[in-house]
Amino acid sequence: MEISVIGTGYVGLTTGVCLAQLGHTVVGYDKDLYRIEKIQRGISPIFEPGLQELLQKTMGEKKFRATSHLPEAVQHGRILFLCVGTPQLPDGRADLTQIEGVVREIAPHLKPGQIVVEKSTVPVKTARRLKHLLEIYGKKDVTLLSNPEFLREGNAIEDFLKPDRIVIGAEDSHSAQPLLALYESFPCPKIVTDLETAEIIKHAANSFLATKISFINMIADLCDKVGADIEKVAEGIGLDPRIGKEFLKAGLGYGGYCLPKDLRAFLQIAKDQQVDFSLLEVVDRINEERPYRAISALKEIHLSLSGKTFVLFGLSFKPNTDDIREARSLKLTRLLLEEGSFVRGYDPKAGETFLKALGEEVRFTLFTDPYSAVKDAHGIILVTEWEEFKNLDWETIRKSMVSPVLLDGRNYLSQEKMVSLGFLYRGVGRGKGWLGLKHPSQS
Ligand code: UDX
Repeated sequence: MEISVIGTGYVGLTTGVCLAQLGHTVVGYDKDLYRIEKIQRGISPIFEPGLQELLQKTMGEKKFRATSHLPEAVQHGRILFLCVGTPQLPDGRADLTQIEGVVREIAPHLKPGQIVVEKSTVPVKTARRLKHLLEIYGKKDVTLLSNPEFLREGNAIEDFLKPDRIVIGAEDSHSAQPLLALYESFPCPKIVTDLETAEIIKHAANSFLATKISFINMIADLCDKVGADIEKVAEGIGLDPRIGKEFLKAGLGYGGYCLPKDLRAFLQIAKDQQVDFSLLEVVDRINEERPYRAISALKEIHLSLSGKTFVLFGLSFKPNTDDIREARSLKLTRLLLEEGSFVRGYDPKAGETFLKALGEEVRFTLFTDPYSAVKDAHGIILVTEWEEFKNLDWETIRKSMVSPVLLDGRNYLSQEKMVSLGFLYRGVGRGKGWLGLKHPSQS
């Protein structure tokens, strides 16, 4: 089938090259000339495992090509996936400028029988409004569908090729047929529903995931107070299939482009509809407080953080991505800078994107190797659980630090091993405060 993707960000590019890999002929459009020029050279503008290889392969097979010429992309596809950003406005609502703009731009070029698919995450009723917009342009014969995306960054290709479900929102079941045909080879359940339900499924899924994380973080705080271990609590409740063990990892909280933004947008929708979503307000608040708890934990060891040097291991919002949007590392860096500390950062992939987001900060230094980063440091905070952190020579690291303080913000390292190496170690919700001290703190 001929497919076009409008917007070649993380969702658009993954969707495009994966559909090309499945044998469809795909054109990817973006107004960002720099991005298109990169893609045309076979370079993925984002780091996502396997994406660049798949891009080069499908381009070589002439199954995928990129263009900055919108009419070309609109003419090509029988199905057009809208994958443009819906960033957060200051009040938490989703900014629909891009998606509206793109529909207005493509509308004059659309032909009867073409199918426009909303893949961007949008507030409920957006598809309906876009459908009206198309009608204003006289495009009554164009079908509009919603097909929310559940890709996880760092796992996007596998998630696309092996989805656990496919959701298709349509005005009637007949309109959904072309998308069902496109996804025919996927063995997962396919849910065909109306437009509004499909849109709500996306927001509800991400808000529920966020709720699970804040729930476990809330329990982690209690564990810290009473001497219980959150890792065992998570195991003990997660084995109940009604709860499930996923998304019960306590730590510094969730970040990224989706969970924080989608939860806040969902909250605003509920507010507009006068539905009580205060549960989600608390989920957001618990998450926002996580970095402050890390600072308090450091203050149990250092009377003052001013003038001291702290190293963040991991800057991306999660491993296997260079995405730093809403990353905990940004908030932690800012809090440490406010305390008067010197901050160093190391990340296998996200260093440059982090620097851009942080802006000019004289007391922040980016390092390209973890061993130089820790020299004469007063503490390390493990912010992102990149696999390479497990295999570092931690003894060498401990020896080069001024004080061997290690705050494991993801409960990723073995506390026994770190203590035996001479670190003052603290995880999140492990119930024993700082380990390795003669008189461990209990708070
Ligand atoms: C999320 C959804 O999972 C995906 O379905 C949707 O399409 C896009 O948003 P993503 O943003 O890639 O995906 O990240 P995800 O794997 O969900 O993790 C989000 C954040 O939660 C990360 O910062 C991660 O570190 C944190 N997290 C995750 C926890 O703190 N604890 C957990 O148990 C799981």
